[in-house]
Amino acid sequence: YRRLRVALLGAGAVGSQVAALLLRHGDELADRAGATLELAGIAVRDLDAPRDADLPKELFTTDAETLILGSDIVIELMGGIEPARTYILQAINSGADVVTANKALLATYGSEIFDAADQVGASVYYEAAAAGAIPIIRPLRDSLAGDRVQRIMGIVNGTTNYILDRMDTEGAEFLDVLADAQALGYAEADPTADVEGFDAAQKAAILASLAFHTTVPLETVHREGITKIDKGMMDAARHAGYVIKLLAVCERLADGGAESISVRVYPALVNRDHPLASVHGANNAVFVQAEAAGNLMFYGAGAGGVQTASAVLGDVVSAARRHIAGGVGVGESTRANLPIVPVGHVVTRY
Ligand code: NDP
Ligand code: HSE
Repeated sequence: YRRLRVALLGAGAVGSQVAALLLRHGDELADRAGATLELAGIAVRDLDAPRDADLPKELFTTDAETLILGSDIVIELMGGIEPARTYILQAINSGADVVTANKALLATYGSEIFDAADQVGASVYYEAAAAGAIPIIRPLRDSLAGDRVQRIMGIVNGTTNYILDRMDTEGAEFLDVLADAQALGYAEADPTADVEGFDAAQKAAILASLAFHTTVPLETVHREGITKIDKGMMDAARHAGYVIKLLAVCERLADGGAESISVRVYPALVNRDHPLASVHGANNAVFVQAEAAGNLMFYGAGAGGVQTASAVLGDVVSAARRHIAGGVGVGESTRANLPIVPVGHVVTRY
């Protein structure tokens, strides 16, 4: 097989598992990709930090820029805006394909990154940027490209679902469960992103952009987090036959002949009979309603290092296949620029 150099940026909850799986299953992945995936190095901040997986010391470096140069595939799993944005642009401009799970970056600088990739014929893969291990980016971008998506509704943040679930089922305290979610590798480096709904809003913007073939600016997404939800509210909801879930809803709205979309994230009362009520722990579930396909449901691990590594490595195999085929493959969808309707507080029961 031809050898492809793979650079990994970040070896935290997700990156360390990606490296471990890449090393452990290298032969199988080579057969699937049609290329040997050589892990050229792993860029981190602190060479001595403890890692979730036992990885060869000699792979680690603090010099991300040198590692990127000469790589065929760059996997960005550092998170945050900078230096991730700069490194991804450097990778694209040096001829590499990019795999990232960074929804914060894509929801804010996605257009800049996709445009840079389009200009040089590179591709950016981001299956892990929404709903962890669940395949949802490709279904929206590819499988449903011939249909008209009307609505996406679901739970897209694992940390908040884990917290709300344990508050509901065990009467646990918010802060205790948040600490557990952090220890389990579900939470963002700054967990405010999870509990204030920023992470879910970023994912909703990405999903809505794909589903409606437009660009949804993050600032147009209505966002409420779960920090105001207390035990009293959980109990009241339970007695009334509901459970509180942080939902993301992306809808196509028709007003006469004109179409617009609404994208919102907020805690909602979900009837205990609704399938979303039985999404427990850090799992996510996404319902997609499309004109021809009807109702589709996607369910699985929404967070977690090894689970998310599955989605990342799927992208790495796709990137490798595209690379050895000479760059033929995924292109970004054309963008329709539908108007976005700002939605204020919506009291909805599902
Ligand atoms: P972590 O915070 O656990 O790990 C981040 C890694 O990046 C660390 O190894 C860190 O180095 C390295 N890093 C951070 N900044 C720099 C820098 N300036 N230079 C070099 N290395 C740097 O993050 P996660 O693994 O949890 O998440 C990674 C990405 O995946 C994020 O975008 C996140 O949103 C996304 N994601 C996470 C999921 C999860 O369940 N955790 C699920 C889906 C997506 P060091 O170790 O030396 O500090
Ligand atoms: N912090 C995120 C979550 C990671 O809890 O859903 C997965 O994107």
